[in-house]
Amino acid sequence: MTWLVTGGAGYIGAHVVRALVHDGAPVVVLDDLSTGDASRVDPGATFVAGSVLDGDLVARVLRDHEVRGVVHIAAKKQVGESVADPLLYYRENVAGLVTLLEGCRGQGVDRFVFSSSAATYGLPDVELVDEDTPGIPLSPYGESKLIGEWLLRDCAAAYDLRVMSLRYFNVAGAASPELGDPGVFNLIPLVFQALAAGQRPKVFGADYPTPDGTCIRDYVHVDDLAAAHLTAARALESGVPGTTYNIGRGKGSSVLDVLRMVGEVTGTDLTYDVVDRRAGDPARVVAAVDRIRDGLGFTAQRDLRDMVDSAWAGWQAQHP
Ligand code: WQD
Repeated sequence: MTWLVTGGAGYIGAHVVRALVHDGAPVVVLDDLSTGDASRVDPGATFVAGSVLDGDLVARVLRDHEVRGVVHIAAKKQVGESVADPLLYYRENVAGLVTLLEGCRGQGVDRFVFSSSAATYGLPDVELVDEDTPGIPLSPYGESKLIGEWLLRDCAAAYDLRVMSLRYFNVAGAASPELGDPGVFNLIPLVFQALAAGQRPKVFGADYPTPDGTCIRDYVHVDDLAAAHLTAARALESGVPGTTYNIGRGKGSSVLDVLRMVGEVTGTDLTYDVVDRRAGDPARVVAAVDRIRDGLGFTAQRDLRDMVDSAWAGWQAQHP
């Protein structure tokens, strides 16, 4: 059966397309190329340029390619930008999802994998965040993802639709250098950028209630994330009911752990500046990963070294 991957020309989407194609699935990609790059799309997939907000195009793609399932990754994903321009996020992430779902309903597409986020949890005050931890997102970005989950839950209850919502934790790394993250918004690329500019990376606060005082996150390799999508898609194909899953490793790394790893991988004697806390940063966000392990048999395989190593190769390929 053919899968539509929206946002399949982006950093995460291109990895998901690659995983599906390598597993033998027919794939069509819909991407508006606002941040994506068509050259990232695996040659085994069909590429269509356009937006999920274009209902006629969505219906045509679903019909012409006999799509039976959708992996919806196309979205805006910058927290700060979402605070500055919430309507952009509600249009792209919420209205885009509604348009796509209307298309699915019209064409009888009944399997849906949704790109959600740990940003739906806000400031979780627990050692490990499980999927039932109540979420109070701190930004329009996180809200747009939680609203997406609610929309999908309601549609799954009302219509013939099964949904897997995947809450990504901190995604890093690359399956191959040319698929490296082109965005410089998250910790690891920001550290590479500082190194390349001969500057010291910034640590946002070292007075958190954590063992080394810096924030702890659950970093997960993008190739593991792609494998999780493949597992979820195949499970929907074989009739497994939909639910919500965390996608992380269940292991926390502090900002200083990440800096140390970057130092080792790049062979740099890395020094850094501790600056003020960044507003809204939780001290610790680490996934409970039992549900997807027990439900779908999925466990992330790649460690922090793998992530930093492959992200560095990607950085060097893109900044020769
Ligand atoms: C990681 C840690 C920073 C930069 C965000 C979104 C989340 C998800 C992933 C999409 C934090 C610290 C960072 C720097 C630093 N996105 N840091 N110096 O904020 O955990 O998560 O991206 O779904 O929804 O909120 O990721 O990479 O920005 O930060 O010390 O220069 O690194 O304070 O503790 P974050 P991040």
